[in-house]
Amino acid sequence: MKVLFAASEAYPLIKTGGLADVLYGLPLALHELDNEIRLVIPGYRSVLDKLKPDTTRELGTLNAWGDGWTHEVTILEIEHEAYPFPVWIAECAALFDRPGNPYLHPDGYDWPDNAERYCVFSRVVAQLADDALQLDWRPEVVHVHDWQTGLVPALLEDVSPRPRCMFTIHNLAYSGRFSREIFERLHLKWHWWSEEGVEFHSGFSMLKAGIVYCDVLTTVSPTYANEICTPEFGYGMEGLLQSRRHKLHGILNGVDGTSWDPATDVYLPENYTPESIQPGKQNNKKALLEGFGFDATPQQLQQPLLGFVGRLVEQKGVDIMLNAIPELVHHTDACFVLLGSGDYGHEQHMNELARRYPQRVNVYIGYEEGLAHLVEAGCDLFMMPSRFEPCGLNQMYSLKYGTLPVVYNTGGLADTVVNATDENIRSKRANGFVFYNPTREAFASTVFWALGHFVNKKHWQQLQLNAMQADFGWERSAQTYMDIYKS
Ligand code: ADP
Ligand code: GLC
Repeated sequence: MKVLFAASEAYPLIKTGGLADVLYGLPLALHELDNEIRLVIPGYRSVLDKLKPDTTRELGTLNAWGDGWTHEVTILEIEHEAYPFPVWIAECAALFDRPGNPYLHPDGYDWPDNAERYCVFSRVVAQLADDALQLDWRPEVVHVHDWQTGLVPALLEDVSPRPRCMFTIHNLAYSGRFSREIFERLHLKWHWWSEEGVEFHSGFSMLKAGIVYCDVLTTVSPTYANEICTPEFGYGMEGLLQSRRHKLHGILNGVDGTSWDPATDVYLPENYTPESIQPGKQNNKKALLEGFGFDATPQQLQQPLLGFVGRLVEQKGVDIMLNAIPELVHHTDACFVLLGSGDYGHEQHMNELARRYPQRVNVYIGYEEGLAHLVEAGCDLFMMPSRFEPCGLNQMYSLKYGTLPVVYNTGGLADTVVNATDENIRSKRANGFVFYNPTREAFASTVFWALGHFVNKKHWQQLQLNAMQADFGWERSAQTYMDIYKS
């Protein structure tokens, strides 16, 4: 089938989180299943900086109305070593050629013209789906992701023949909500303006547009698909989602084995497999500790090392974890490595813990792909106390790397981590530690409990083997997406 993927990020060209990883792994797996894939992303400055003249060509120019004027958008086609199919870049300097993150100004606030930026991008995607550049390539399915492309399913009404459209929610917490005034200025269609359409709390939501106008709606784990239909996780959209339950599917993300496999991971000083797990992990732990300026003495290598990697936002339960660390430092010999960036308050809190416990708490504020891999490989436990987690990739990476996750029972965490209960241990399914209240107390006592298991090396190794044997390849999920495309 011909499938056009459109999203606001895709690894390795541009990444702020798991969305980018999915926009790499899923199209690749669908390509392996003999589909004809095109992927289109915005031409942010950091994407343009990665392009090489000999593998980039201009396909043509499209015009799209923005906020008060028409933007000219040049479509570049690149051949990239990571992708076995053409990738299209929607280049528009006025909207995307800027410093900082795709969504945020370098000072941390949302770009004030985000509505216009992603409306123009969505208009371009709809035109590409209509073969507006006369490339003789028309998708049968357009697969779009999150609020930034939420208008696409609505805009496809002008495309004839209209391709089918799948909309995937990676995170319902980001709804792309803007005012009625912006709706008018963007010249969006009035027949979309209703409670049955895009209207949301007297403004409008691009995410809601995606939910309402797509043919098939998916989200990234079965448990999250159920959760978003409830008031606790639905952000006010639970009624709408319940009414669309017939077209909503929860499909677990996969892990891309070319970049996340301890046996081949290029970021690790030592690769390892389930057979070489002990020396392998020990040497990565040594490198990780040395990187933070420690001698990594034999005694230190025996102490449990707990890691965290993630965006420092409310979703990730960072406060739950940080508030528990003093107690864990005082009552155990555990050390910590924390990698992340995001809310200033959380960053400050992390730095303060590092100052207070310099021998025990190591902090890196920033985004560092290589260090993320080393944390996954070098730690004994991986902390992921997310309050909600649509899928979560980090816990799957940590399972593959034999680093047992400590997680709250929600979303994709609930679908991937099997709690170390006596019964699950006996059946060799246990692969991590689960807590059932999103509180500091529950998290801390679960870490104490996990550390109780850690001292029994033989038993711990069995849990690590269970974790490493889980199959999180993309093949199964890609096949499920295929089945839905076909239907
Ligand atoms: P989310 O998409 O909600 O951020 P996921 O667990 O799905 O959460 O994916 C997060 C991805 O982003 C992982 O690949 C993780 O390694 C990466 N990541 C997050 N923060 C950092 C960071 N500070 N440095 C490096 N990689 C990071
Ligand atoms: C979102 C979610 C995360 C998920 C990722 C990829 O960022 O927060 O749980 O793994 O998208 O689908």
